[in-house]
Amino acid sequence: DWNMPDYVNEAIEKVRAQVGKDEVILGLSGGVDSSVVAALLHKAIGDQLTCVFVDNGLLRLNEGSMVMEMFARNLGVKVIHVDASEQFMGHLKGVSDPEAKRKIIGREFVEVFQAEAAKLPNAKWLAQGTIYPDVIESAGAKTGKAHAIKSHHNVGGLPDTLNLKLLEPLCELFKDEVRELGVALGLPREMVYRHPFPGPGLGVRILGEVRQDFADLLRRADAIFIDELRAADWYDKTSQAFAVFLPVKSVGVMGDGRTYEYVVALRAVQTADFMTAHWAELPHSLLGKVSNRIINEVRGINRVVYDISGKPPATIEWE
Ligand code: XMP
Repeated sequence: DWNMPDYVNEAIEKVRAQVGKDEVILGLSGGVDSSVVAALLHKAIGDQLTCVFVDNGLLRLNEGSMVMEMFARNLGVKVIHVDASEQFMGHLKGVSDPEAKRKIIGREFVEVFQAEAAKLPNAKWLAQGTIYPDVIESAGAKTGKAHAIKSHHNVGGLPDTLNLKLLEPLCELFKDEVRELGVALGLPREMVYRHPFPGPGLGVRILGEVRQDFADLLRRADAIFIDELRAADWYDKTSQAFAVFLPVKSVGVMGDGRTYEYVVALRAVQTADFMTAHWAELPHSLLGKVSNRIINEVRGINRVVYDISGKPPATIEWE
């Protein structure tokens, strides 16, 4: 640790001074901000930190095992892995309105998290990955970030009934500073420079009703897209890229047979602030390769389209 930048040590000292011997809970999402908080707190207070990782069934391919591998296995962080996918899927059944879906996902998250927090009666602090732009946002403008946990002062997030003090060690940092801190703390660059992923996850990337089988198809298509972007060195040239599941069927041919299967849309954007965005002009050869792989490897998808809408008027997500 002798060559860690000064600000890492300062941040560690600050956390130690703030929490003393108290226990701390953190909702770990696998996103950049909560990951950096986990790494920082683990270094600062070790086993006084307990992370709760809620699998809502709407995560990306292998995301749950990656988070457990990284934090629990490699770093030795105490992580409670809650598989709540059935609970989330159950409540989402029959619901197709985007705002209603968001509300359900947020509400269930709070419920699951609270139940876990209740099992840790000694905890005094709730740590959150709030960063400086979130603090500014919560003072005013809506940016589509009606997320479950991360808003400042629990806006739309965890209720005060948890009776925990808020610990927000990143609240003075901008995103690029959070990333630098993550790297300095030893997190892999690939994790620290990952594209943002919305709190409601695949719930807003499966249009209309969320179904388990749709989520499984989407996860596989999305992973192929991201793999190929990385292989072609386009991942870091896009700000966000993902697949969207369209619950419409179209006709195709395969061998001698006719298929009648679902559609996946690919979305890739370039943006500085996510308030406006350009669709990424990916090479046609790359798009062709992704399309071929998805159609050949993901049985149930027989058509792939590319989204060429800018924001505005389209949003980055489809819901
Ligand atoms: P839109 O779709 O509004 O998205 O252009 C702008 C950015 O915000 C992300 N986003 C969300 N993030 N909870 C989140 O944590 C949400 O409900 C949510 N909705 C959108 C989106 O992925 C993009 O980066």
